Amino acid sequence: MDRDEQEPVGVIAEPDLYIQGGQPLRGEVRIEASKNAVLPILAATLLTADTVRLPGVPWLHDVDTLCRVQRALGTDVVREGRDLMVQAIDIDPFAAPEHLVRRMRASFLIAGPLLARFGAARVPLPGGCAIGSRPIDLHLKGLVALGADVQAGSGYIEFRAPRLRGATIYLDFPSVGATENLLMAAAMADGWTTIENAAQEPEVVDLANFLCSMGGEVRGAGTAELRIHGVRRLHGADYQVISDRIEAGTYLVATAATGGDVTVGPVLPEHLKPLLAKLREAGSVIDVAGDTVRMRQKGRLKPIDVKTMPHPGFPTDLQAPLMAALSIAAGTSVITETVFENRFMHVSELRRMGADIKIEGRTAMVTGVSYLTGANLHASDLRAAAALVIAALAAEGKSTVADAYHLDRGYAGLEEKFAALGADIERRASCSEVV
Ligand code: UD1
Repeated sequence: MDRDEQEPVGVIAEPDLYIQGGQPLRGEVRIEASKNAVLPILAATLLTADTVRLPGVPWLHDVDTLCRVQRALGTDVVREGRDLMVQAIDIDPFAAPEHLVRRMRASFLIAGPLLARFGAARVPLPGGCAIGSRPIDLHLKGLVALGADVQAGSGYIEFRAPRLRGATIYLDFPSVGATENLLMAAAMADGWTTIENAAQEPEVVDLANFLCSMGGEVRGAGTAELRIHGVRRLHGADYQVISDRIEAGTYLVATAATGGDVTVGPVLPEHLKPLLAKLREAGSVIDVAGDTVRMRQKGRLKPIDVKTMPHPGFPTDLQAPLMAALSIAAGTSVITETVFENRFMHVSELRRMGADIKIEGRTAMVTGVSYLTGANLHASDLRAAAALVIAALAAEGKSTVADAYHLDRGYAGLEEKFAALGADIERRASCSEVV
């Protein structure tokens, strides 16, 4: 059962993670398949009635949520060991349940493929991490351009289009989700679609490659102009999803914060370039060999300036983790968040550990202190939770992180992986009955 359904009245929430800081991290970490690539690819399996096999999919809450949405639509989803087998035959495109879709913004990715294959869809309005308003206007505008009739009901959106037809769509912002939704819709539309100012994230490229492995025609993936030629039918596939650059980045940043010597892999080092450039600037020693990245850190980081940007800029998902590491750098760093508003919710928690951070609009001035002190912390979203874990690992003394379940949305076995690197970290029951 899910936490939000299971937490009964008469319980008090207790901290989930207990961390004793101060251990440098040493060893190797195995990186999983990318959460942000698995989710759109799982949505894209709705485009075919054939079986799709996705090997090595990590068991994350967000993956679980989308599997449940898929099952509610009628998809047969089976986990065989670490593999996911998916087959979408008898689909009801109106059956996406509100309570699941609200839990995760990426659920809205079912709109494009449902509409493309079934000519209709009803999708509840999405939820997700509490990081800014996160509208879906670009998804909707793009689907309208492809010929969809879009009607907003109370709490849901209904789409109809007996046939989608290719069009040229300019995105006001290179939204990852909107690019993915439109790419899936265009994959079965009549004729050519061009998406201008498209997102260039590696996860978008992976979705394009997946669609091509199903018989789709996509050109320009990884550039700002995507060209898609719609086909009548897509077939099944056996597809290995790319590895998770954000998970890898989190372990690298944790090593930068605590000191130590950690190798992550398998990764596509190209995907980590924006982070590696910044960590090198901050004084970390980084060696790339094949599909691994080794990171060595002695002493304090140097301060750096970082601005989050769409890919290939610095990823917003690593902004909070990097801020935790820079809060003990030898000087003042300037971090500017341009992708999401309101993505500084970790700052108040870092301050409780002694961090010196001033916020002005979308910019944080982070003046490194010589040490952080363990504290009782509260996680507000997935990447903020990762940042707090990193800060707690680097801090002097003991910390607790409440609502650490946010981590389970995006990190498989996080505490086991950190413990294997020598960290003193443990998860305990998340709530107990009031006596
Ligand atoms: C995806 C990632 C998330 C990452 C983000 C940016 C997944 C499942 N999630 O989220 O981890 O942080 O990319 O790299 O892949 N926007 C609009 N209108 C829209 C859509 C987006 O204004 O219709 C705005 C958002 O409010 C936000 C910005 O565009 O400010 C970026 O959002 P987007 O790129 O769409 O992120 P997601 O796809 O939600």
